[in-house]
Amino acid sequence: MIQYLRASGVSLVIDARPGTTPAVLHWGRDLGDLDETALAAFADSVAASVPPSAIDEPLRLTLLPSFADGWSGRPAIEYSAPTGWARTGDVAEGAVEFGPLDAATDIELTPEGVLRVRHRLQNRSDVSVGLHAASIVLPVPSRARELLDFSGLWAHERRPQRITPGHGVWSRESRHGRPGHDDPYLVVAGTPGFGFESGEVWATHIAWSGDRVQWFERSSLGPTTLGGGELLAPGELTLEPGDEYTSPWVVGVWSDAGLDGVSDRLHPWIRSWSTIDRPRPLMLNTWEAVYFEHSLEGLQPLIDAAARVGVERFVLDDGWFVGRNNDRTSLGDWFVDETKWPGGLSPLIEKVHAGGMEFGLWFEPEMVSPESELARTHPDWILSDVRASTWRHQHVLDLANPDVFDYIFGRLDALLGEYAIAYVKWDHNRDVLAPGAHAQTAALYRLIDAVRAAHPGVEIESCASGGGRIDLGILPRTDRVWTSDTNDPLERQLIQRYSSLLVPPEYLGGHLGDARAHTTGRTSSLAFRLATAFFGSAGIEWDLTEATDAELDVITAWATAYRERRALLHSGRVVRADAADEATLVHGVVAPDRSTGLFASVLLAAPEAALPPAVRLPGLDPERTYRVSVLEFGAETPRIDNSQPTWFTEGVTLRGSVLGEVGLPPLLMAPENAVLLEAVAIDA
Ligand code: DGJ
Repeated sequence: MIQYLRASGVSLVIDARPGTTPAVLHWGRDLGDLDETALAAFADSVAASVPPSAIDEPLRLTLLPSFADGWSGRPAIEYSAPTGWARTGDVAEGAVEFGPLDAATDIELTPEGVLRVRHRLQNRSDVSVGLHAASIVLPVPSRARELLDFSGLWAHERRPQRITPGHGVWSRESRHGRPGHDDPYLVVAGTPGFGFESGEVWATHIAWSGDRVQWFERSSLGPTTLGGGELLAPGELTLEPGDEYTSPWVVGVWSDAGLDGVSDRLHPWIRSWSTIDRPRPLMLNTWEAVYFEHSLEGLQPLIDAAARVGVERFVLDDGWFVGRNNDRTSLGDWFVDETKWPGGLSPLIEKVHAGGMEFGLWFEPEMVSPESELARTHPDWILSDVRASTWRHQHVLDLANPDVFDYIFGRLDALLGEYAIAYVKWDHNRDVLAPGAHAQTAALYRLIDAVRAAHPGVEIESCASGGGRIDLGILPRTDRVWTSDTNDPLERQLIQRYSSLLVPPEYLGGHLGDARAHTTGRTSSLAFRLATAFFGSAGIEWDLTEATDAELDVITAWATAYRERRALLHSGRVVRADAADEATLVHGVVAPDRSTGLFASVLLAAPEAALPPAVRLPGLDPERTYRVSVLEFGAETPRIDNSQPTWFTEGVTLRGSVLGEVGLPPLLMAPENAVLLEAVAIDA
C-alpha cells in the first residue's frame, strides 16, 4: 500500500507496499491529487541509479535504515543481541521484522500539517535485547542545505546557531536527564538564507523530557536526513522476550513560509490539545523579591502592592519548607516551616485571597538535599551514588523507586489537599548525571499525571533553573513554562523570540523584574521591561514595595492593558519581521481574523546606521486599512532623537499592504529599548 497523507498544504508519501520496509518518499509541499496509479508511478520512479563501488541494488532510505539496506549513515534502530543483524523487509501484521524485534511505525499528519512519528518495538525473540536507539529518520531534499538549531546556558537559553554542514552528521545529544539549557529545541534544515518570513524549511523536535539526540546528516551516499529520538545509555534499556518499547514522538514541520510558517503549524496544533482553558492570570512571583526571607509580616506589603497593581496570582517561591533558609538544605522535607509560617500557610493564603488573588506554591519534587531529614532517613533513595558531586548542593531522587514515588506523591497530595493551592511551580535545578534517565523521565510523567488526576484544578508550571525543560513531552502536562531565570529584558527579547518558535506565547512565562537585573547586573528602562514582559504569560518578579507610587501607577496601567489584550496575545498568530540590521527586532501577535495586531519595535544595541530599517508590521491583511497607535503605560521610552515620526506623536492610518511591505520610519530609541504599536482595522 502507498499511503498519501495530506493536510494544510503538506503531504507525505509512504511506500509501504508488501515485501519492502516502509519508506518515506516525500515530506514537504502538497503534491496535489494523486490517485493510486499516480502514486504507484511515483513510488516506482524513485529507484536510484546504482553508482560505482556501492551495493548492487538501488539505495532505498527506509523508515528503519540499517546495514541491511546498504545504509552506512546513522541508523534508526540499534540493539545488541546474540542473533546479530537481520535483513529487514518481512512485514507481518503491520510490523517489520527487524532482527529479534518487531517494529511498527506510527505516522500521523495533523490537520495543521504537523507530522508525528514514533516506533513501537517488541522483542519477539527468546533472548534479551539491549536497545541502544529507536530513532526516527526522515528524508529532506538536498536543497535543505542550511541548518539552524539552538544552544545556550543558564539564563541565556535558546541561542540560535546556523551552519551549512558538509558531508557528515551534525548531532546534538543531551545527557542532562532533561533537555537542558543548551537544548537544540528545534533542528531546522532549510533552503539557503531562510528567515522568519521566507524560505522552505523542515524542522524536527523530540517530544521527550529526558536524554535525547537530534541530528542532521548529509550522507556521501546521497540522502539528506533529519533524525532523532531518545538517547539511550548502554545497558539502560533491555527488552526481555515479549517486552515492548514505544519511542517518543518525533514532531516534524515543513513550511515554505520560513520560521513563522513553522509556528503557524505548531501553535494551532498545540492549542488544539492544550490544557489551558482560562485566561492566563497576571502573576507575582516572590523569588527575586524576597528569596528565602519568608514571613507573613515581610510579605504583607508585597501582597498589598500586588493587589494594588492588579496581580491575579501570588506565587510563593522557594523557602517555605522546614529549614530551607538557603539553597544548601531541606529539599525533600516537604513540610511547612512553622518557624516562618506559624499555623502553616493558611494565614498567608487568606491574605492573598483577601487581595483578590489566587495562591501558588513552589516545589522541586525530584530533588533531595544531602542536608535533609529525607536524605538522612533514606540515603538509598538517591539516584546517583551518594558520593557523586552535588549540583546546587542537591541530589536527584530515584523516582522510579515506588517508595520514593509514593512519598513524593504523598507530600504533594497532602499539601494540595490541605491548602487552596491553585498553581504549582515545579522546579528542577540540576542535571541528573546518573544512568537511568529513561526510567526517571517515565516516572516523572507518571508523577505529574497522578498529581493532575488527583487535583485536576491545579495548574503546573515546568521550570528547570529557568528554561531547562521546555519540550512537547512535558507541555501536555503543564500550563506554563518558566522561559528563563533571567528577567533582563535584553536577554529576554531573543530568548522569547526563539522559544516561541515552538511553544505558543500563552505558555511562556515572562516577568517584569527589578530595574537592575539580578542575573546580569544590567539596568533597563521600565518601558523596556514592561514591553518585554507583555508578550507571553505575564508576571512580576520584583519587590514592588521598592517601587515609587508613579511606578506602581504605570504597572497598574500595564496590568490593565495586559488583561484587556491577553485574549489576542494568547490566541493570535505570532509574527516576526526579518530585518537587515540585527540590532533591530520587530515581533507581534495578529488576531486570527487580522482585525488587530500588537507589535513591539525593539532596539537591542546601537543600530548600523543613523536611521535603522523601517518598522514593518507583518501579518496584517494587505487589503484592509489600520489605525496604528502607540501603546504605552505612562513610562517613557528613552530616545535619542530631535524629532519623531508622526505615528509616534499622533498615530497613523495606513493600508495593511503598506504596513507589511514598506513599514513605518523607526523611532530613534536609546539602545536596549522598545516601543509597542497597536494596529486596529478601521474598515471592519
Ligand atoms: C530556580 C528557578 O528557575 C527560580 O525561578 C527559582 O524558583 C529558584 N530555582 C528557587 O530556588
